[in-house]
Amino acid sequence: MSIDAVQKIFKTLSDPTRIRILALLEREELAVQDLMAILGMAQSRVSRHLGILREAGLLADRRDGTFVFYRMNPDLPDGWRSAWSLVAKARAEDPTAARDSAALSVHHDSRQARTRAFFDAVGPEWDALRKVFNDDSLRARAVARLMPAGLTVADIGTGTGILARELHALGCRVVAVDHSPRMLEAARANLDEAGASDVELREGSAEALPLTDGEVDAAFAHMVLHYLANPAEAITEMVRVLAPGGVVVLVDFERHDREWMREELGVVWLGFPLEDVRGWLAEAGLEDVRIELDADSAGRELPKTFIASGRKPLGPARP
Ligand SMILES: C[S@@+](CC[C@H](N)C(=O)[O-])C[C@H]1O[C@@H](n2cnc3c(N)ncnc32)[C@H](O)[C@@H]1O
Repeated sequence: MSIDAVQKIFKTLSDPTRIRILALLEREELAVQDLMAILGMAQSRVSRHLGILREAGLLADRRDGTFVFYRMNPDLPDGWRSAWSLVAKARAEDPTAARDSAALSVHHDSRQARTRAFFDAVGPEWDALRKVFNDDSLRARAVARLMPAGLTVADIGTGTGILARELHALGCRVVAVDHSPRMLEAARANLDEAGASDVELREGSAEALPLTDGEVDAAFAHMVLHYLANPAEAITEMVRVLAPGGVVVLVDFERHDREWMREELGVVWLGFPLEDVRGWLAEAGLEDVRIELDADSAGRELPKTFIASGRKPLGPARP
C-alpha cells in the first residue's frame, strides 16, 4: 500500500464526527435525516462528512423515493479494515460511543412511537383508509397457502382483525398481535361481532413478538412490513415463533414511488424489491421460498402487491 493511501486513511479517520457517523452506519442503514437527529447536527455538516466518507469508498447507498440511505461498505477498500478495527477498539472506551448508541435507540423508539401514534389516531377509521389497498382477493390467496386446517396461526400487525377473522373462519386457532391498543380495541369489536371471540389478541411489537419459540404453525404479516424500521429483523422474529415446518406468509407492496403514502398513510418504506424480500426470507433460514406478484394489482393506480412465503426447516435451522 502506498504512503499516499495510508495518509488518506489517517486523514479521513482524523475527524471525530466522521468516526461517529461511520460507527453508526456500521450498525445500520440510516438516512441523512436520521443521522441529524441522532447526532444533533445540521444537515450541511452531516452531508459534508458523508461526502468525504463516500469519496473514500467507505459507504454504500440506496435510494428510496426522495430518501437516500447509507451504510458502511461491507467490502472496505484495501487497508481500511485494519485501520477501522483499531478505531473501533479505541471507541469501546469512549463515552461518545455510548452516547451515540443511546441516541440511536431513542431514535428507534421515536420512529416506532410515530407509527404507533398514527395508528392510535386512526383506530377504527382504518377500515375506510385500508380500502385504497383493494386487497380482498389477495387476502384469500394468502390464506390458501395454509393447506391443513386446525393450525395455530399468528396474524402480526392485525389492525382491525380482518385476516384474523378469515383465519378463524378456516378453523385455525388465531393469535393476533398489534402494537396499537386502539387497533386492538377495533379488532376485538370486529371479531366479537363476527363470532370470533376466541381469537386471542396480544399487544406487542413485530420486532419482539409476544409469542414463545415455536408457538405457531404459521405467521402472517399482511400489509405490515412497510411500517417496520427493520423488516428483515421482524421476519427473523416471525421464524423464531414458528414450529419446525411452519410457514411465514407476507403480503405487501412491491417497490413503488408513491411518496404521498409516507404522509397520508404513515408508511416507512415505499414497498420492497422482490429480490430483497426473497433474500430476507432465505437469510432467516426458510426453505421453499416463493414470491409472486399479484397479477390483479398490475395496471391499477396503486402499487403492485406481492405474496411471499417460506417454510421453516424440519431439522435444526440453518445458521
Ligand atoms: C397497514 S395496517 C395492516 C392491518 C391489517 N394486517 C390489514 O391488512 O388490514 C398495519 C398494522 O400494523 C401495525 N404495526 C405497525 N408497526 C408495528 C410494529 N412494529 N409492531 C406491531 N404492529 C405494528 C399497525 O398498528 C397496524 O395495525
